[in-house]
Amino acid sequence: MASVTLLWLLPLLSVTWAISSPSQDMATLINKSNSTWRAEVYFQGAPESLKSLCGTILNGPKLPHIKVPVGNVPDSFDAREQWPQCPTIQQIRDQGNCGSCWAFGAVEAISDRVCIHSDGKISVEISAEDLLSCCEGCGMGCFGGFPSAAWQYWTKEGLVTGGLYGTKDGCRPYTIPPCEHHVNGTRPPCSGEQDTPKCENQCIPEYSLSYPKDKHYGKDSYGVPSDEKQIMSEIYKNGPVEAAFTVYEDFLLYKTGVYQHVTGKMLGGHAIRILGWGQENSTPYWLAANSWNSDWGDKGYFKILRGKDHCGIESEIVAGMPRM
Ligand SMILES: *[C@@H]1O[C@H](CO)[C@@H](O)[C@H](O)[C@H]1NC(C)=O
Ligand SMILES: *[C@@H]1O[C@H](CO)[C@@H](O)[C@H](O)[C@H]1NC(C)=O
Ligand SMILES: *[C@@H]1O[C@H](CO)[C@@H](O)[C@H](O)[C@H]1NC(C)=O
Repeated sequence: MASVTLLWLLPLLSVTWAISSPSQDMATLINKSNSTWRAEVYFQGAPESLKSLCGTILNGPKLPHIKVPVGNVPDSFDAREQWPQCPTIQQIRDQGNCGSCWAFGAVEAISDRVCIHSDGKISVEISAEDLLSCCEGCGMGCFGGFPSAAWQYWTKEGLVTGGLYGTKDGCRPYTIPPCEHHVNGTRPPCSGEQDTPKCENQCIPEYSLSYPKDKHYGKDSYGVPSDEKQIMSEIYKNGPVEAAFTVYEDFLLYKTGVYQHVTGKMLGGHAIRILGWGQENSTPYWLAANSWNSDWGDKGYFKILRGKDHCGIESEIVAGMPRM
């Protein structure tokens, strides 16, 4: 009798599963929990299949820490407003389904800093492709890497320019297509694995400079101590930095507000660019640019709880200064 009842119930249960996916349930739960942020479902596929969106190996080699002289910093700061002459500060890139965030966080902040420290005279997009494909000491390419090694590579070997996928901008534009951040979109899914592109010491034919002539170098690279005031002073004085943190399943669903972990399993390490800070409804946050296109999150950006080393966001900050 019991088994008959069960059989009769089964079709009903599977209908319910088809309507509400685990991600949908999680987003509903987050909204209901009245946290400091709101959720939306973006990606197709189970969160575990989206590991390639992360790709930073946490607790890797450390750069020597510098102590930033702590000066007066404002209560809120946005590098986009401070340096409007530097267009890359406003740019959101897309790493595709390759675990190259470690390279993206670095080249984004490096591009910003080259512009900031040349007073807007040198405005280039530093190539994620060049760093991802040519830095052997950086880790495993599309399967994860070390932010600290990325900045070191810039000081030792230099990096050429290169724009977004599908453009002919710079010496080595990105060759991995953007992936889909909407449940029913038309781009290829963000799940699955992607081989690391080959290192090539030459520019695309459309570019006028030679590969060696196009290299931009760092003067030095360093870690910033895990201290809110030190990090703020570094950004305020020198420009955006790269940070790495632990991603949990709920982060994939971020839409607006100040992210703090509510629910879900740990997925891996992720690197991003921090470009400012502020307070929202008295919750202090860091303003960060992600590399999951501008249709993810808050137009490609997100805010994350500041001052508590939440998910390790303050403990792996790296940066450097351009050689002019
Ligand atoms: C959660 O709230 C946001 C903002 O109010 C809304 O856009 C989104 O659709 C909600 N998500 C779910 C799953 O209820
Ligand atoms: C969230 O806020 C709503 C409206 O203020 C309230 O009804 C609900 O009980 C709250 N939920 C939690 C989990 O605190
Ligand atoms: C996606 O497409 C399916 C089938 O066409 C539809 O039922 C569903 O509501 C769509 N989801 C979103 C988020 O647009």
